[in-house]
Amino acid sequence: MNKIIRKITVIGSGTMGSGIAQIFALNGYKVSLYDLSLNNLDLAIEKIQNSLEKLEKKQLINNSMANDAISRIKLCNHLENSLKESELIIEVIVEDFSEKEKLLKEVNQFCLPDAIIASNTSSISITKLANKVSKPERFIGMHFMNPVPIMPLVEIINGMKTSKSTTDNIISITKSINKTPIVVNDYPGFVANRILMPMINEAIHTLNEGVGDVEAIDQIMKLGMSHPMGPLELADFIGLDVCLYIMNILYKELGNTKYAPCPLLVKLVDANHLGVKTQQGFYKYDAKKKEKQAINFKY
Ligand SMILES: NC(=O)c1ccc[n+]([C@@H]2O[C@H](COP(=O)([O-])OP(=O)(O)OC[C@H]3O[C@@H](n4cnc5c(N)ncnc54)[C@H](O)[C@@H]3O)[C@@H](O)[C@H]2O)c1
Repeated sequence: MNKIIRKITVIGSGTMGSGIAQIFALNGYKVSLYDLSLNNLDLAIEKIQNSLEKLEKKQLINNSMANDAISRIKLCNHLENSLKESELIIEVIVEDFSEKEKLLKEVNQFCLPDAIIASNTSSISITKLANKVSKPERFIGMHFMNPVPIMPLVEIINGMKTSKSTTDNIISITKSINKTPIVVNDYPGFVANRILMPMINEAIHTLNEGVGDVEAIDQIMKLGMSHPMGPLELADFIGLDVCLYIMNILYKELGNTKYAPCPLLVKLVDANHLGVKTQQGFYKYDAKKKEKQAINFKY
């Protein structure tokens, strides 16, 4: 029988955490949204409000649904309080193993003994993360896609010790928020990023080698392959730091030079040009005008 889940703690209120909190709240769950940064929590609730307004304008939800969703989200910057009574905890902090390890040890200390802990990691081994909590059978990967309110897929990743009942519970809760769960096994990059990231990295090589400029590369993939976004635009949207982290994991763990990150990706991250979140990556963004301009990379 599936576990009854009423309250969820989402840890990390950035690009993905805010979307995950929104979608659970919209579907009737109580959500505690926790972050170390009060400023990021404020930005997250503003982002959720804007996103709900857009859904309302498109008549996908009504005003009372939007207000109810907002009222179900409690912002918190005290981990122990945030975890109280939560039957499901979703970790959505930076893609860095040592940060996640440190956090999971703390979560393990304060969470309900039978809580399920999920990670939204894009590439870090679920088996390795599960080892940081006392009940690895209750640990699983729940990989949402960006932007969470729109994308239907949740890639569910079983770690080596994940129990069948944990997987069944997570499949059922994913369906309850109107998303489609697809279960895969723990392996570097899982399925989504094993395929997507090398494509993005190849697009960056193509740019770096002067085969085409930013707009040409993106337009070719949009118009020629029916991709809704070009690979460089998508990389900016995901975050170039996240892309680099994932490529490094694929390179290190699969041991094949074909996964080595393109030097231009490394250089952009070193320059803190991380894409949309820093207003510059392969494009320069003007949030106020809602405009973007391709960067002219010259070598
Ligand atoms: N960005 C994407 O498109 C995308 C897609 C799928 C999965 N992911 C994964 O989701 C996770 C989060 O990515 P993101 O893009 O939302 O990152 P982000 O940088 O936008 O947000 C991370 C948030 O975590 C907070 N944080 C950092 N350390 C913390 C801690 N110890 N305790 C509490 N909060 C902490 C930060 O303050 C920040 O608000 C990563 O594992 C990433 O790989 C990202």
